[in-house]
Order: sequence, then C-alpha cells, then structure tokens
Amino acid sequence: MTTKSIANTVYSWVDERLGLGELAKFARKKTVPVHKQSFWYYWGGISLFLFLVQCFTGVLLLVYYRPGADAYESVRQITFTMHFGWLIRSAHAWSANLMMLSVLVHMFSVFFMKAYRSPREFGWFSGMMLLALASVFGFSGYLLPMDELSFFATKVGLEIPAAIPVIGPIIANLLRGGPDVSEFTVQRFFALHVVVLPAVFIPLLAFHLWLVQKHGNAAPPSEEAKPASQRKSMPFMPNFLVKDLAMWIISLNVLALLASIFPWQLGKQYDALAPAPLGIHPEWYFMAPFEMLKLLGLVFSGKLAALGEIAGILIFTLGIVLWLLIPFYDPNLESGRRGRRAHYFGLFAIFALLVTTAIGYWTIR
Ligand code: HEM
Repeated sequence: MTTKSIANTVYSWVDERLGLGELAKFARKKTVPVHKQSFWYYWGGISLFLFLVQCFTGVLLLVYYRPGADAYESVRQITFTMHFGWLIRSAHAWSANLMMLSVLVHMFSVFFMKAYRSPREFGWFSGMMLLALASVFGFSGYLLPMDELSFFATKVGLEIPAAIPVIGPIIANLLRGGPDVSEFTVQRFFALHVVVLPAVFIPLLAFHLWLVQKHGNAAPPSEEAKPASQRKSMPFMPNFLVKDLAMWIISLNVLALLASIFPWQLGKQYDALAPAPLGIHPEWYFMAPFEMLKLLGLVFSGKLAALGEIAGILIFTLGIVLWLLIPFYDPNLESGRRGRRAHYFGLFAIFALLVTTAIGYWTIR
C-alpha cells in the first residue's frame, strides 16, 4: 500500500463518520469581495491570531504564576529567573495591547464598510460583546503581577463601577473581595482571567466566526451599488486564507520585535499603605472612557456636584448603547440620510476617542 492510498483510506474512514466533505464544502462556500478597501478585511483575522498568541503564552505563564499573596514573587521569578520567562511575559503583555488595537481597527473598519447592516446584525452585536470581554481580559490581567502600578491603577479603575448608583458599591466589593484591593482581589481576577472569561469568550468567538462564514464578508456600499457583473471577489479557501496567513506572519514579527526590544517591565512590589506614586493612569485603551467620565463629571459639577459622576456614567452608557444599536438605525442600502448620519457618528466617535486619550495623557500627574 502506498502512503497516498493509506491517507485516502484513513480520510474516507473519518469522512464516513464525521462528514468531513460537508465541512470542506461549507468552508469553500465563502468568498471575499475584492475592491480598494479589501485591506480592512485582514483586521478580524489579525485580532484572531493575537488572541491565539494570548492563549499560548498565557498557558505557559500559568505554569509558574501563583495567584494570591505570592503573586508578585512568582512574576518576579518568571521575569528574572526562568529561562525566557521574560520573553513569554513580554509577548503576552504586548500581544494583549496589539489585540486591543487591532480589535478597535477591525470594529471601525466594519463600521465604515457598514458590515453591521442586515443580515449581519448578530456579527456586530457579538463583536461588541467580544470587545467588552477583551477589555475585561485586559483589566483583570493588568492586576495579576501586583506591582505598584497595577495595584494603584486597579484601585482607581474600580472607582468607576463603584460610582454606579445602588449596585455600584456591591459590584466593586464583589470584585475586590473586600473594601480595598488586596490578595483576595488577585485571586478573583485570576479566576476571571483564566477560567470565566475564556469560557465565555471562546464560544462567542466561534459564533462570530461562524456568522462570517455563513454570510460572507460585506462589501462597502459603493461596491454593493454596482451591478453584479462589475463586482469582483475571490474564494476564501485557499486564496484569501493564504493572504491572511501572510498578515499573521507580519503580526508575529511586529510582536517579536516589540516584546524583545521593549521587554515588559515589572515595578516595585505594591504597598497598600504607601501613597499612590505619581503618574498612575489606566492602560491606553481605558484612557478615553476614563477621561470622558472625568470631563462629563466636571461639566455637571457645580450645583449638581453630587450628580456629576452619575450623569457622566449615564451619558457615556447612552453613547455605547447608541453605538450598539446602530444596525437598527441604519439597517440597509435604502437608509439614505440615516446612513450618512451614521457615518458622521463614526467619525465623531474616532475624534472623541483620540482627543480624550490625548487629554488623558497630557494631564497625567
Ligand atoms: C477579539 C475580538 C474579535 C475577533 C477575534 C474578531 C474576528 C473576526 C474575523 C476573523 C472576521 C472575518 C474577517 C473580517 O471581516 O475581518 C470578523 C468579521 C466581523 N466582525 Fe469581528 N472580531 C472581533 C471583534 C469584533 C468587534 C469588536 C466588532 C464590532 C463591534 C466586530 C464585528 C464584525 C463584523 C460585523 C464582521 C463581519 C464583517 C463582514 O461581513 O465583512 N468584530 N471578525
């Protein structure tokens, strides 16, 4: 028997039982539109790749990380004692940041291509949930080394949910495991980071990817308006997949350069009794919401001082809800003026994010 015929026999044995042929047919069904803006289709795939890097490096860190009172010491050992521990830790932290960046680029590119329109609404909603979960991944992971910066940044960050009326303090206490950030908080954040979040994120991501496979990629409205004979597309399998893989290799190179040239730092061990050091600030992807809440709080201060923070949270939440519900406001190609307004809303959102992030960094003390 030749190797080829053995492979064929094994394939038909598995195919008969699992229906691989049908799966391959489903995988081959998807095509990707080809036009001037096709570049933006890579960003979902880049986010996916960086998430896989997160899982791989995260499992390696898990081998030596110890949550609780010993957290700082275990991260110190990983960084300074274990062979290549610093590189794995650096790759994990850098790819978390690159993933947030690529998810944001992906979100705005699908927004401007109007890929949230019918029948892709669930792609948009599941994507927003993935973004929210990715932010919680970032927030919970940031505390795990328990150095000075992560301790005080978490303390400040938890003041936001704590300001929500009635349920806020309950949520904050539940997350902290007490009135202050402590080793109990690390234990909880650890459970969230390595068990709860992956358990929710991975099935949701599978649903998100299945939807793209089912509906195919959306073409921007300028392409949709063209007659079918003038629109171009390419099969996803294998043509676009090869291009996706090339982008993954480029992303891996960028990650390797950043992680090795700028190794992720470990600060001093936290001291709950010490005053907060200067320059405490949230991660860059939380800077905009943090600053927006601060600014809205200031606008509403004065006579309404007590209500300032609450008003800020309400207005900010309203902005997110409007963003989430955009598929209902601008449902299809016939949306006309609403479609244009949605476009300006997107431009305004980018402007607001950039300006508030810049103000946030500018006013760090
Ligand atoms: C970790 C987070 C995410 C991952 C790994 C991910 C992954 C992907 C992938 C691989 C695709 C197909 C390729 C592409 O069109 O780029 C895709 C499509 C899509 N994603 Fe995401 N995504 C994430 C977050 C988001 C977010 C935050 C949104 C928006 C709120 C979103 C909305 C969409 C939509 C609407 C599509 C369909 C695009 C189309 O039809 O052209 N995704 N996603």
